Amino acid sequence: MVDLSFLIDPVYIATIIIFIVGLQRMSHPLTARSGIIWAGAAMLIATLVTFLTPDLTNFALIAIAIVIGGGLGYIAAKRVAMTDMPQMVAIYNGMGGGAAAGIAAVHLLGTTTTVTSSLAVIGGLIGAVSFSGSMIAFLKLQGWMRPRPITFPAQQVINMAVLILAVISGVLVLLQPSWIPISYTALLSLFFLLSLGFGVLMTLPIGGADMPVVISMFNAFTGLAVGLDGFSFATPNYAMVVAGIIVGAAGTLLTIMMARAMNRSITNILFGAFGATEETGTEIHGSMKPVDADDVAIMLAYANQAIIVPGYGMAVAQAQQKVKELADLLESKNIPVKFAIHPVAGRMPGHMNVLLAEAGISYDQLFDRDEINPEFPDTDVVLVIGANDVVNPAAHRQGSPLYGMPILDVEKAKNVIVLKRGQGKGFAGIENDLFYRDNTRMLYGDAKETIGTVVQALKKL
Ligand code: TAP
Repeated sequence: MVDLSFLIDPVYIATIIIFIVGLQRMSHPLTARSGIIWAGAAMLIATLVTFLTPDLTNFALIAIAIVIGGGLGYIAAKRVAMTDMPQMVAIYNGMGGGAAAGIAAVHLLGTTTTVTSSLAVIGGLIGAVSFSGSMIAFLKLQGWMRPRPITFPAQQVINMAVLILAVISGVLVLLQPSWIPISYTALLSLFFLLSLGFGVLMTLPIGGADMPVVISMFNAFTGLAVGLDGFSFATPNYAMVVAGIIVGAAGTLLTIMMARAMNRSITNILFGAFGATEETGTEIHGSMKPVDADDVAIMLAYANQAIIVPGYGMAVAQAQQKVKELADLLESKNIPVKFAIHPVAGRMPGHMNVLLAEAGISYDQLFDRDEINPEFPDTDVVLVIGANDVVNPAAHRQGSPLYGMPILDVEKAKNVIVLKRGQGKGFAGIENDLFYRDNTRMLYGDAKETIGTVVQALKKL
């Protein structure tokens, strides 16, 4: 057979460039979809060209694995609801970490040099932690495990002890001293078991609300593990090295950005057991005051401007098309409409931007927190559509678990209409006194339906 292996490295370099273009396109909502396609195409090309590796064995097994894995991935991704996306990212990312740990294990069971096996041990540790930690994140987000932080006495000490034991066993895997009473394979298994155990233990005390940040951190871990694995081959695999580093860097930046948007430190997210205790000692006065769609339509018809604050509930209701219809109708009646986008509204970064872009809402109408907050006091009507935590004034109150989180100051608007189904709390599980304020009215029901009725009422005016 003709040896085409000289093509591998140049094609890898080309795929690296495509990965970078893809990532750059993902950084803007308008080009994000095409960014995913670019990056996916690069991954496909990199996978195909790897088959040109000389002396590749188990060709059929690899092909079967790709068909099964790719097929399951395709079906699951097609079926998943937008709101379940974080769980899907968690499980797929965990698989990446598991694969990186698997590559490291195969490497450590074969012929190695000190440098390559050191890299494989580090990659194996990080990949295994990412795998087991991501699985716990998946179980919590899927509701198959208690989402609240699971804490127990001396937790951090035990976690640290397991990590130290994992590192020690990794060093022993490298040194292979003669006094070790167990076989090399048993030692390697112990190393991976301790690493997997640490991933589980470090994720247990993290609450469901912090999971997206943690998933992003594990994503960075997986990237790092893949990058290290890429170096651990006799001839480095440049596609793995660069793709791993890109994922590691992007995941790290995203983790930092999300933590900042919640005004929390990474340490607090990892070790603070956020959500383990409820806020106490705060009494909320007043009552929630319902309003009907006709009254909302009248308020909107006479408003100087309307600001729409979308949140997780809009995604649940899939109300984005109806929201667009309402915004267009208001604009046709010369009532300016602006959208206030909180960076952690919904359940994943850019969640609201993606949904609104999908509905065809112009990017010019979207405003971030710093841009829109000064406008609330002069705005007649604010529609809060399925948002809760991101508009919770408890964030201004010392002692609240949300204290310090930058929020959208909707309570300063002249009239606030909150569209939600009932008394449900936000993801952080904290009561929201915005709903009880004198300038707030509650329009109860599924957001898609209630917006539909407001649109009908507005058309009749
Ligand atoms: P949430 O605080 O989760 O509140 C969503 C509200 O939507 C609920 O109170 C619920 O009340 C309502 N709702 C649910 N289904 C609805 C439907 N079909 N129609 C109308 N309303 C519905 O949402 P948020 O304000 O967007 O905040 C996001 C939360 O996720 C924050 O705590 C944030 O820190 C956390 N988080 C987000 C991210 C990213 S990156 N987005 C990352 C980490 C953490 P009812 O049950 O009464 O309807």
